[in-house]
Amino acid sequence: TMVARYNSIETVEGLFRDAPEKIAAVIVEPVAANMGVVNPDPGSLKALAEIAHRNGALLICDEVISGFRLCFGSVAENIGIAPDLIMLGKIIGGGMPVGAVAGPAKIMDLLAPVGPVYQAGTLSGNPLSVRAGLETLSILKETNPYAALDAAGARLEAGLGDAMKKNGESGCVNRAGSLLTMFIGPERVRDADEARGCDAGKFAKFFHGMLNRGINIPPSQFEAMFISTSHTNADIDRTIAAAHESLGDLARGKS
Ligand SMILES: Cc1ncc(COP(=O)(O)O)c(C=O)c1O
Repeated sequence: TMVARYNSIETVEGLFRDAPEKIAAVIVEPVAANMGVVNPDPGSLKALAEIAHRNGALLICDEVISGFRLCFGSVAENIGIAPDLIMLGKIIGGGMPVGAVAGPAKIMDLLAPVGPVYQAGTLSGNPLSVRAGLETLSILKETNPYAALDAAGARLEAGLGDAMKKNGESGCVNRAGSLLTMFIGPERVRDADEARGCDAGKFAKFFHGMLNRGINIPPSQFEAMFISTSHTNADIDRTIAAAHESLGDLARGKS
């Protein structure tokens, strides 16, 4: 496995140059959520697909977090990319344990039982998970909550940004729909190095300030907050108010 820099097409080009014909696939989260939320630069996923295909490699989109959360289906497909494979999990299980891989028949038919690539597991196709997942997807299709989730995300993003500014804290809020991360420190975060530039110690204090006020956000600076359809505007506003107070404590050296 070789690791490229997120949002850096040059590092991907460099890896293909260094190891011609040795790379089977490029795997990317089309919206990154595992270093905190980081959006792809406009055009970067299209460029990744083009480089992968030019070099005889597949483009695999890890949509375990983004799939069915940011839109009904694949975010990559929604922005006009056709990944060769898409990985899904979480939401498609409706809270039950599940994972799935999706792709065109010419690739999927290489997998067992049809093709030569062995694939099996004790819980593969587990009826309980699959039933819960199907039900969740049909509710998502019927209720189409994505615009409301995006609006809730925008409300929280604006409130957290304002709370940082009013309390003299530098940083930024990255958001994609109902996923967001408040980074303490850097003015922008486009990749893992910029995420590492955050003040994780300060974030830990902020986390405890929030927890003491009854708001349980992810305890790591490098995680995403997830808004669900159950969160009301009042919940979001309570979160913003707690952020104002917690950041105020930090500014006054009280926590
Ligand atoms: C983006 C992403 N991909 C893959 C995984 C792995 O999923 P699993 O825990 O089902 O192996 C996770 C887990 O959180 C994830 O966030």
